[in-house]
Formats: sequence, C-alpha cells, structure tokens
Amino acid sequence: MQKYDCSLEKHQSKKLNSNDTEHTMINTSEMSQTEHKINDDVMLYIGDSLTIPRTNKFRMIYFDPPFNSDRDYKLNCNSEVGFSDKWSDADYEEFIRRHIDLLYELLEDNGTLFFHISSTCMYIPEKILRNKFKLVEPIFWKKCRSKNNVKTKLGSVVDIIWKCNKNNNYKFNVVTQEKDATYLKNSFKNKDNKGNYALGHLVTENTKKGYEYEIKIGNQSFNPKSGWRIKETELQKLIEEDRVHIPTKSGAKLYKKIYLHENPGKPCTDLWDDIHSISQGNEERKYPTAKPIKLLERLIEITTDEGDYVYDPMCGSGTTAKASNNLNRKCIVNDINPDVVEIVKSRFQGETKE
Ligand SMILES: C[S@@+](CC[C@H](N)C(=O)[O-])C[C@H]1O[C@@H](n2cnc3c(N)ncnc32)[C@H](O)[C@@H]1O
Repeated sequence: MQKYDCSLEKHQSKKLNSNDTEHTMINTSEMSQTEHKINDDVMLYIGDSLTIPRTNKFRMIYFDPPFNSDRDYKLNCNSEVGFSDKWSDADYEEFIRRHIDLLYELLEDNGTLFFHISSTCMYIPEKILRNKFKLVEPIFWKKCRSKNNVKTKLGSVVDIIWKCNKNNNYKFNVVTQEKDATYLKNSFKNKDNKGNYALGHLVTENTKKGYEYEIKIGNQSFNPKSGWRIKETELQKLIEEDRVHIPTKSGAKLYKKIYLHENPGKPCTDLWDDIHSISQGNEERKYPTAKPIKLLERLIEITTDEGDYVYDPMCGSGTTAKASNNLNRKCIVNDINPDVVEIVKSRFQGETKE
C-alpha cells in the first residue's frame, strides 16, 4: 500500500508563504497537475494543505484530519487507496496546531470551523482549539448503532465535531432535525380528514390577564380556571378552521391540532443521531473514513448561505465538495493523496445529487 504519510518532517521541510499567488476558482489557464477544476464552483488541489497558498477567506471550513488512531486506512483489503494515521503524540499535536493556526487565518470573522475527531482521540485537538477560538462547542454525532462484537469495553458510537467561532457574531441558520420514530409514532396518533395530528396545549398554567374567557362549541362549554395560552379571537379562528381537538369526555381539555404533514421537525440540537455512517446507510463508500453527504449538508446549511465559500483542506473523497455543490455554495478542497482526484471527479459525473 502506498501510504500518504503526513509526518511532521515533511511539513518542516516546506514553509507556508501566505503572500504567494492569489487563488482564483475559475481561471484554469495556468493549472498544474495539482489543480483540478471540477466545475465552475468546485476546485480541487493536490498537495500538503500547509503549503498550498490560499488568499481567500472562507465562511465555513470543515477539517477532518487523520485522528491519530494508530492505524493504516485502506478502502478494502484488495485496495491500495488509503492513508496512514500513525504518529507520536508530540508530532500529532504539532501537526494539528500548525493547521489550526493556518485555518484560523483563512476563516472569515463571522465564519465557522468544524473540526471532526473521534471521541477517543479528542483530547489533543480540544486543547489546541480552546487556546485559539473564543467559542468551542461540541456536536455529538452518533455515527453508528451499538456494536454487538465489543466484549471488554463500551462500544464507541460517537464522533465529536467541534464547532469553533472567533466571536459571538457568527453566521447561523436554524435547520431542523427529523423527530425520532418513537416520538412520531406515539405523538401523532389522532387523525381527521386532513391527516394525523399531535395535541398542542391551549390551556396555560400561568394565568395571564386577558386570557381568561369562556368558549362554547356546540352545547359544550370550556372555561379553564388557569386561563388560555392564546387570545379569544385566535382560538375562535382555530375552531372555525377545524384545528381544535374537541374531547369526547366531559370536563376534558381542548387542544390545538398539530398536523404531521405541516411539521418541519425540531430545531437541531447538539446531538445528531439521525445521520448514519456510510456503512449503515445507502451511500456507497468511496474512500476509507468517508463521511456521509447528509452530515456535510447539515454543517454547511447551518453556517453558510448560497454563494458562500466553503473550504476542506483534507477532503478525502470530496464529500464536502459534493455537499457544497448540492447546496449552491462555492467550494475549494484539498488533499495530499493524488488517488482522490478520480474519486472526487467521479462524484460529479452526471451532476446527480447523492
Ligand atoms: C479522515 S480523511 C478525510 C475524509 C473525508 N472527509 C471524506 O469524506 O472522504 C483524512 C484525509 O486527510 C488527508 N491528509 C493527511 N495529511 C494531509 C495534509 N498534510 N495535507 C492534505 N491532506 C492530508 C489524507 O490523505 C486523507 O484523505
């Protein structure tokens, strides 16, 4: 296996020169073999990410480096495609520190760096990130289901994605996560001719002036002691639109109907247990340690708008490039391993959405 060794000696032999030539996305006139224009919005570079000059700033950077896992990674046992991840802790710390120093400079002031690491290798990066960024918050990605073959330790099912910001004024878009299946099954049990619905509270526990009134529906009357959550006119409108669940038992409460088909999901939390690793999903694995496209799409949606620039300095199979393109962002990706060129290109053939 040809290993793409990321050892420190190699980095030390080259010096990053941030004053080097300006990068342009579209100009292909002087492209070397290290530059590959994937399409008008995606550019791939091959080389050590510490030495490839960049003068752009990016709204989002996704950094998924080797984890210091003491392993060699191959696509499968018959494949040469992969990279080595064997380090001394001191070398690894230096490797990460240099990258973080560089990536900090490349990040827009309101941008976000995501640092992806396994939960077992998180200590070294966390220390470096907390020294550099004002805000460092973990996202817990449950990448797989519990492991049946683990006998002597707890099965490791979580990766950490550190969300790092230079200040509090970072770009943030609310995106939703699907509600979990048990919740959906238990909550949306009621049904009318519009579809399944859950019950939303209309009666309050904190009485407010102006929210105490009696409502009549047919020959039933509702006048909760603690009052309502909404004004009388709003409740009348809901009743007219048949959006109120009327109890069959006398003395029971009124509820608002929350239809399943109108429900966008819940705002994302820091626990992501709804995106499975490639081996457990429908995606084909194109590279060892390749991440699922949905994971990158969510990271991009939260932190960027259409047209913004995204950067991935160690792109592997180009998941970030593909996800950015799906969402109409511009993307620059880089990897030291030339094997990735064909892999990244293949993801864009036919321009189909993955
Ligand atoms: C964990 S993999 C990235 C996987 C990727 N996120 C995906 O979805 O396919 C880490 C990558 O870092 C690359 N790499 C390691 N050291 C590098 C360096 N100094 N410069 C650029 N790429 C490097 C490796 O070749 C490998 O492809």
